[in-house]
Amino acid sequence: MIKHEQIEKNVGLLFILTLFVILWGGLLEIVPLFFQKSTTEPIKGVEPYSAVRLAGRDVYIREGCYNCHSQMIRPFRAETERYGHYSVAGESVYDHPFQWGSKRTGPDLARVGGRYSDEWQLAHLMNPRDVVPESNMPAFAFLANTKAKDTVAIDIEEKMKVLRGFANARKIPTYSDADIKGARAAIGDMTEMEVLIAYLQGLGTALGTMK
Ligand code: HEC
Repeated sequence: MIKHEQIEKNVGLLFILTLFVILWGGLLEIVPLFFQKSTTEPIKGVEPYSAVRLAGRDVYIREGCYNCHSQMIRPFRAETERYGHYSVAGESVYDHPFQWGSKRTGPDLARVGGRYSDEWQLAHLMNPRDVVPESNMPAFAFLANTKAKDTVAIDIEEKMKVLRGFANARKIPTYSDADIKGARAAIGDMTEMEVLIAYLQGLGTALGTMK
């Protein structure tokens, strides 16, 4: 039989057994989450991203907005008083990849949907200092010069089909053939700026907004 003393005096054995304990503990914590409905199913009011918002989400990712903005409200009083209800897993089931993040040069955006008007969002993205004088957020005015259909939405149908595959694997509501067929028409001539604002305005609205 191996005694505790032998393990402590044998670095190799100590390393292997420590690794085993950490891996086993990790598995016990992580694996059950894959099977819990509260983490795999959407909460009431959360629906698959419309084609327009899906394109906007890709602008958000391409421009690296996540480098300065998180989308996850932690369950602490200071956070919930500022941003609203803390984020729950069922809000992120249609996010591939999710945009939780942790870097907050700017505020959390998990519930920014509906907090400001579309006009405010436009003015802010054109030049943040026009509406928030002390802001150090970069201007994204160039987004108004490009049509989404030429960039982020160029393969919108394929993207929706991939996301439908993910949703089907988890047996949660997803796009119909008609949704995918109509994607291009829904986006039409919208600019990158417009689809991005549509994306922002829907963020976190199922559980209330930051208002
Ligand atoms: C270099 C860091 C940085 C980047 C990159 C950045 N932001 Fe910001 N953002 C900020 C800061 C700082 C603020 C707070 C000041 C302000 O409102 O402008 C802010 C504020 C905001 C707000 C208002 C939030 C609120 O609750 O008042 C929105 C919406 C927003 N950003 C969206 C975006 C989007 C969309 C992108 C990507 C296209 C982006 N930001 C990229 C730093 C950044």
